Amino acid sequence: MQPDPLFTSLKLGALELKHRIVMAPMTRMRSAQPGNVPHALNAEYYGQRASEGGLLITEATDITPQAQGYRGTPGLYSAEQIAGWRAVTDAVHAKGGFIFSQIWHVGRISHSSLQPDGALPVAPSPVRPSGDHTDASGQPVSFETPRALEEKELAVLVADFVTAARNAREAGFDGVEVHGANGYLLDQFLRNGSNKRTDRYGGSIENRARLLLEVVDAVIAALGAQRVGVRLSPWNGFNDMSDSDGEALWDYVGRELNKRDLAYLHVVEPRADFTTDLPLDANAPDAAAHFKSVFKGPLISAGGYVAETARAAVGDARADAVAFGRPFISNPDLPERVRTGAAMTWHERATFYGGDHRGYTDYASLEDVSQSCGV
Ligand code: PHB
Repeated sequence: MQPDPLFTSLKLGALELKHRIVMAPMTRMRSAQPGNVPHALNAEYYGQRASEGGLLITEATDITPQAQGYRGTPGLYSAEQIAGWRAVTDAVHAKGGFIFSQIWHVGRISHSSLQPDGALPVAPSPVRPSGDHTDASGQPVSFETPRALEEKELAVLVADFVTAARNAREAGFDGVEVHGANGYLLDQFLRNGSNKRTDRYGGSIENRARLLLEVVDAVIAALGAQRVGVRLSPWNGFNDMSDSDGEALWDYVGRELNKRDLAYLHVVEPRADFTTDLPLDANAPDAAAHFKSVFKGPLISAGGYVAETARAAVGDARADAVAFGRPFISNPDLPERVRTGAAMTWHERATFYGGDHRGYTDYASLEDVSQSCGV
């Protein structure tokens, strides 16, 4: 029998993975308040999902108070947060697993009620996203027109990413993933629907990619390239993103990242819409295929995979590993279920964001089920 392509080892930077099923970063908004501090419940959640030689990527984590866009998202800038994350990484390592911290700044996808001193959210340019958001108390609000960052603030931002990366190392993480996806700050700089700047950070593709690449280079200088991954969501329109020439943009970004010997590049497939459970868009461009042609390091693909499509993607070398989001919420032992072909539990969307242990740590593993059946 052929070996299962998902259960072969993979060198991912400094890590030697034992299988290729990665837990995708997912916002769950359950940090302890005040202070946006990871706590025991979060350690239990990540510990449940850890597996021998498997990689988890955390929910997006605020690098500074200004980076926050939703209530209850955890940070990585205070001593309490570092201590809280230490319990998370310990729980994952105790099971032989690995964990990267996804470090982000939301840019304009925030609200003044979530910002220090009630300031306006910041962005490359004062372009208000369409649609609605939620405020610090979780109520629906309209987006505000963000304040454009001054050029001198961008160096501070790069330094903030580096501090968060160092804090991640102190908290015991195996590495960090720079969040360049899904319409948050670095993605807002990349695309010309949201970046209207006329300085060195706007206009040409080279200029729009400058901030992402400066952040990536600075984080590499702090941690080493083998401990750094990058996530992108090419062609994805989530959070009101658009670009006039995605083909050229993603080609340039892929080629630049390829020069940097990263632990991995992680792409969100545009066919999948994680805000709904609608069928996949068969006409969307294939991001993994596009990046495979320019990026020679390990490539993780995410977006609407099931066991069979993941197996085919890795088996055909279209991706080196596959990240699962929603199935990992409701199946804490997802790799084992994929390996054995066991039935999957469907997720409940109402408990994705915020709340308590319900819909978070109370999804059963196969082991829990067999114990409660007395098997
Ligand atoms: C979300 O909270 O909706 C969210 C957060 C981070 C992402 C994508 C979506 O990368």
